[in-house]
Amino acid sequence: EHLALWGGRFTSGPSSELARLSKSTQFDWRLADDDIAGSRAHARALGRAGLLTEDELDRMEAALDELQRRVDDGSFAPVQDDEDEATALERGLLEIAGDELGGKLRAGRSRNDQIACLIRMWLRRHSRVIAGGLLSLANALIAQSERAGRTVMPGRTHMQHAQPVLLAHQLMAHVWPLLRDVQRLVDWDRRIDASPYGSGALAGNTLGLDPEAVAHELGFSRVTTNSIDGTASRDLVAEFAFIAAMAGVDISRLSEEIIIWNTQEFAFVKLDDGYSTGSSIMPQKKNPDIAELARGKSGRLIGDLTGLLATLKGLPTAYARDLQEDKEAVFDQVDTLEVLLPAFTGMVATMRFDAERLEAEAPTGFALATDIAEWLVRNGVPFRHAHELSGACVKIAEGRGQELWDLTNDDFIGVFKDFLPADVAPKVRAVLSSHGSVAARNGKGGTAYERVTEQIGEAKSAVMPL
Ligand code: ARG
Repeated sequence: EHLALWGGRFTSGPSSELARLSKSTQFDWRLADDDIAGSRAHARALGRAGLLTEDELDRMEAALDELQRRVDDGSFAPVQDDEDEATALERGLLEIAGDELGGKLRAGRSRNDQIACLIRMWLRRHSRVIAGGLLSLANALIAQSERAGRTVMPGRTHMQHAQPVLLAHQLMAHVWPLLRDVQRLVDWDRRIDASPYGSGALAGNTLGLDPEAVAHELGFSRVTTNSIDGTASRDLVAEFAFIAAMAGVDISRLSEEIIIWNTQEFAFVKLDDGYSTGSSIMPQKKNPDIAELARGKSGRLIGDLTGLLATLKGLPTAYARDLQEDKEAVFDQVDTLEVLLPAFTGMVATMRFDAERLEAEAPTGFALATDIAEWLVRNGVPFRHAHELSGACVKIAEGRGQELWDLTNDDFIGVFKDFLPADVAPKVRAVLSSHGSVAARNGKGGTAYERVTEQIGEAKSAVMPL
């Protein structure tokens, strides 16, 4: 029975220890549908090459249909002795079509070109699901940005109050990396859009099969141009793994922000009950578990990428069994993102910001000090001095436990006296508001309301064609 694929030169079947090590059906069975689709295309290629008669091809296709039905309803599934999904499906086909006809399908293909093709088909399909999930998340952030309107908040660098920004600007800063992740997937798809079917074990096939036709039937626009490369390279699998890990990292950065904003001390945002968890012991608790799981799972997505790269490093360039290890890494990434993205998007779509609190905090911590310096520059003071004068204002306010707008006219007149006349100095008050500060940053990419409105429009038109 287990000699089905390579009995000829063997006197015994695999030891049970080998069989246990070798077995991959527990994870690769999810490629069964793609394998059957590949088998249909391959059968037609055999038919066109005259290696199956019209009648044989009809019966082969009917048998493959029946096999697909049995896989779908679970009446056919791998058994202990099946090494991988291809071995299992071959057994299933022989059961349905008989040894004579069923045994003809393997001509001109190898599990090496087969598996290289199947992982491409599977990843391409799931990459579209993930891209859709990333776009939904981007849309949820865009909707929150529109809802945020002109609300200002403390912008931070080094986690310290830096300059006021629009809440919408801060949220949109998370949209662009997500859109780039989607663009990466689109771009990656152009590279992986080549079928290795026909590469055989490594050197190509002798049977005059038409790999172009097989490729088109399987949704590829072309065939790989080197059969060794086609069967042995996994750089495109690794590239997918990078994009998945990068998306995880981008989501993790947003998670960290939401977790901080959701603390009692910040209290910038409240999460919807449906997207938060409680505590088994502390009745008052409401926890941001979705964001924490997202942050945690980004570690696992990175691990999948690095594990795969470590597997590929140092492989001689043609098929080696190490390559079987490519699958679990990306399956895990896809499973992780496909379950994470809908929950995370729901949390983002339903979270509610405390606009009053954001507004109140925005100008505090001397966040308008840069505005004073730049106002001085507009009044002819060289920036090096302007920086010092504004710093002197901060020093006075800090010493009194006050904010910059609490300084008196005489304070400003005193500090600016070497550079500005006494009737001009107090006019600096005009820039001591976070709304004024934000409105002044009106260059391309800045946080002024009109620029952010344009930015949101740009993001929306970027989302549409994707
Ligand atoms: N299951 C293998 C994989 O996933 C494909 C089988 C190739 N095996 C072989 N001995 N050439 O990579």
